[in-house]
Amino acid sequence: MNTFSDFSLKTYNTFGINSIASNVVMPETSADFRDTAKSATAPFFILGGGSNVVLPDRYEGTIIHPINKGIYKIDERGDQGCLDGRVMVEAAAGEVWANFVDYCIAQGWYGLENLAGIPGTVGASPVQNVGAYGTEAKDVIDSVHCYEIGTGNELWIAHDDCQFAYRWSRFKGEWKDCYIIDRVRFRLRETFTPNLSYKALSSAVDDNKNLTARQLADIVVSIRDSKLPNPMEIGSAGSFFKNPVVDSDTFHRLKEQYPEIVAFAVDNGGFKLAAGWLIDQCGWKGRSLGKAGVYEKQALVLVNRGCATSSDIIALSQQIISDVKAKFSITIEPEAIILD
Ligand code: EPU
Repeated sequence: MNTFSDFSLKTYNTFGINSIASNVVMPETSADFRDTAKSATAPFFILGGGSNVVLPDRYEGTIIHPINKGIYKIDERGDQGCLDGRVMVEAAAGEVWANFVDYCIAQGWYGLENLAGIPGTVGASPVQNVGAYGTEAKDVIDSVHCYEIGTGNELWIAHDDCQFAYRWSRFKGEWKDCYIIDRVRFRLRETFTPNLSYKALSSAVDDNKNLTARQLADIVVSIRDSKLPNPMEIGSAGSFFKNPVVDSDTFHRLKEQYPEIVAFAVDNGGFKLAAGWLIDQCGWKGRSLGKAGVYEKQALVLVNRGCATSSDIIALSQQIISDVKAKFSITIEPEAIILD
């Protein structure tokens, strides 16, 4: 197995922070995953594509970075198979998510189009239930294969046991540091039905009768490109904050004061507020604090203006949280994981 000491993670996180980890292991085979899980001792952190983390300047512990590869269709007639025009696809944790989406579209396996172009790896997708443009990973995940920390035992965890929610699953809650995910199974479809529920998407599609999955994914990628920085050019972690959900009374109070507030009704009678709009209203769009800044085209995205450290990014995020709180009495929370 590949193991390294005093290893720079600069190219392993999309913020581009030059974080030095005292130990790094990169499991690839089943035996690597079993051994890594069995011998893992705190502190450790499982790092996928590093697209949703703020790494410390130095990490005294073990970074576990899965590098296994492979995407294949499970025999539909077998025990794990599925009927009714669906196809079960298994992908290794170390696969790059965006490549996995493209590969499935090319094979005629549908359901992932709206999640095209998201940075990160397959193994991270169930952990925070990645989502964009009206689709979330939970809509397509069937089950997750893991190795248990401490014992190295392997197990499949079914979709319903993961307690998926907005940017959340049990892997982020009570199961934090309990398992290493090595592969994920997805239930995809063999016929293409576009999900155009997200307004920005439906208005970008001219002819939805002849729309192909590839065209839809390309539209998603072009909307993303117009709002989100390319991590190869500007360091960021995508949306830095979650969109806060407030109760109906709070929403109506705000709506009276700010008639143009951007919000979407959610299942429980509450409203999800666009945190980007709240931050924008506080005048932060395009501004900087130290070497960290707020992206010019989308206020929800914090960027590295060059050699930013985790302290620069944390200081900026705290200032934004406090300004939003002062103006709207709403507490926004980071979506990105801040590792210390
Ligand atoms: N807005 C502003 N100013 C801004 C940014 C946004 O006024 O600077 C308003 C706009 O009116 C816009 C609305 O907020 O219409 C919502 O913005 P957008 O459609 O860009 O979506 P978002 O809520 O900001 C979420 C996800 C993104 C995902 C998009 C599309 C979260 C935290 N973020 O952003 O996910 O791509 O929806 O589905 O839920 C990510 O998690 O890294 C990420 C990029």
